Formats: sequence, structure tokens, C-alpha cells
Amino acid sequence: MSDVPEITPEAVAEAVDAALAAITAASDSSALKTARAAHSADGSPLALLNAQLRNVPNEKKAEFGKLVGQARGRVNQAFAAREAEIAEAETAAKLEAERIDITALAARSRVGARHPLTLLQEQIGDIFVGMGWEIAEGPELEHEWYNFDALNFDEDHPARQMQDTFFVDPVARHLVMRTHTSPVQVRSMLERELPIYVVCPGRAYRTDEFDATHLPVFSQFEGLVIDKNITMAHLKGTLDHIAKALFGAEAKTRFRANFFPFTEPSAELDLWHPTFKGGARWIEWGGCGMVNPNVLRAAGIDPEEYSGFAFGMGIERTLMFRSDVKDMRDMAEGDVRFSEQFGMVV
Ligand code: DAH
Repeated sequence: MSDVPEITPEAVAEAVDAALAAITAASDSSALKTARAAHSADGSPLALLNAQLRNVPNEKKAEFGKLVGQARGRVNQAFAAREAEIAEAETAAKLEAERIDITALAARSRVGARHPLTLLQEQIGDIFVGMGWEIAEGPELEHEWYNFDALNFDEDHPARQMQDTFFVDPVARHLVMRTHTSPVQVRSMLERELPIYVVCPGRAYRTDEFDATHLPVFSQFEGLVIDKNITMAHLKGTLDHIAKALFGAEAKTRFRANFFPFTEPSAELDLWHPTFKGGARWIEWGGCGMVNPNVLRAAGIDPEEYSGFAFGMGIERTLMFRSDVKDMRDMAEGDVRFSEQFGMVV
């Protein structure tokens, strides 16, 4: 066989050099595997030289055996060393690729604050629940009948005009964005068993300017009591209680004669605000009165048997003079820096 190598120190040295060069050149584990196949595995020059030992005359066996054995030992050692190096490098590269910088600043989202209007609204709700009343709700998109007719508004009452009320297309469907929370009075009377003691906090809509003291979307709380023998004294006592719960023991209320279609008599309600920023004073707070018999009739209640009182206050306005907010628009804009000042209540 002509390609059978002859064992000579040169042939061994050449095989070793070639193997070491390939080992050094191998830069990753797959290149090293290829080098091993070519320079150390069966069929490689060194393996063939090793196989040739069989044919070496006996007196030369020890010498050549040592020569080839040492050569293979060197090459195997070089493989092992390179293998360890490559494994280390590959692990390091992998760690680097998967590195997580635990000192990096995480993208932080600011913790929000509950809106002061929500907080006040809930506080108001709690006062009523504490008196044994229920919270009533109604839709913000309301039928004109509930918003006006059932509340005894004339056909041509100015509040019904387009310039005050958001009518919803098509107008013939008689849907409006409720202009006050009073339609919930009618809904409560129609839906609930008598007697009725409810408060309705919620949103209302008017075509007002967006300015420091007006919002086209605002909130009110509406109170309604229907029971036997209810008088204006009950109304006054209830309002005084709410005033004290919200503004302190010194707070009180007073009535000024006024007109609302849904109450008779009706009164403008003033609040004595003992801790007002600029000094204690009377502040116009809302409207109230004894439920008009026409409203009771519209809701199927006999005014000879039952009577009741109702009142309505703006929550934004209440927040304004209670917490000294100068501009109502701050309540609508949703800037957390405004809300934060009222505490991070969760
Ligand atoms: N609904 C009235 C308004 O928005 C406020 C009001 C006045 C409510 C008198 C009442 C009431 O329940 O009795 O201006």
C-alpha cells in the first residue's frame, strides 16, 4: 500500500505540527471537532502512523512506539487544553449575551392618586349611608321626560333650550345629556318601594363655558326623601347634619326663597363655612325644597298620603370652597400633581 506512511521522526513531527496548527486555528467547538476528526481520529495521519507500529521490526518497536505515543499524547493534550479554552470562552460569551444590568434604572410609571372629586363623592355617599339612606343611580343619557317633564318643567322652560342643554341627535327621540341629577328622583320614585331615602351622586351636562367656575361636564349630589309626614324641618335638619359632617361642627345652613319647578316651596341653600380660607362666611351651596305634588303624581305617588323633600348640590363647587381650589378646570384636566395634593388614598 503506497499511502501507508512510514514511521519516521519527520513524518511524526509533520503530523504533530499539522495537528497543533489546526488546534490553534480552531476558534470554536465545531471547528475543534473538525480538527479532531482530521488530526486525531481514526484515519488521521497520527492514527495511521500508530497503526503502522504493528509492521515495525521488533527492535525498533520501543523507539517508534515512544515516538508515536508521545506525539499522540501531545496532540491529545493540546486538544484538551484548547477544548477547555473554547468552552470557557463560549460560556463567557453566552453570559455576556444574557447579561442583565441590575443597576440600570427601570422605566418607572408614576403611581397615580385617586381623584379628589371621587374621594369627596365617596365621602358624601358615606355620610348618607351612615344615616341609613341608599345610593341611587340613573343614566347620564336621559329621556327628556325624566329630565324635564316629570320634574314639572314647562314646555317652554328656558332650561330646555338648545343653548343650555345637550340634545342628542335626532332631536325627535327626546334624548338629552341629563342637565342635573334630579331625574334620578323620578326614577327612584318609580322603581323603589316607599318610603324612599336616597342620595344620587353623579355627572351632569350643560352647554356651559369651560372656565374657572364652570365645566360643561360636572357632578352633583341629589338627595330625595319620600315618606309620611315629612316637613321642611326634616329637610333643614338633614342639610345641617351634612354641612357639619363635611365642614365641621360650626357649620350650618340657611334657606332663601327661590323657585324650582320640581319643589314647592323651594329654597336656595346657603352654607355657613366656618373654615373658609378667607374667613368664615355664607356660601351659596345648592337648591332644595319640598317635592312638588305634580312630581309625586307623575311618579304615581299620592301627595295626600306622602310628602318629601329634595336637594341638589354641585360637587366641584363643594370641593372648590372646601379645599380652596381656585380653578375648576384643574379638576377636569387629570394632572396627577393636582390629585396628589389630596393624599394618595388608595
Ligand atoms: N336640579 C337643580 C339644579 O341642577 C338643583 C336642585 C334644586 C335639586 C332644588 C333639587 C332641588 O333636588 O330640590 O340646579
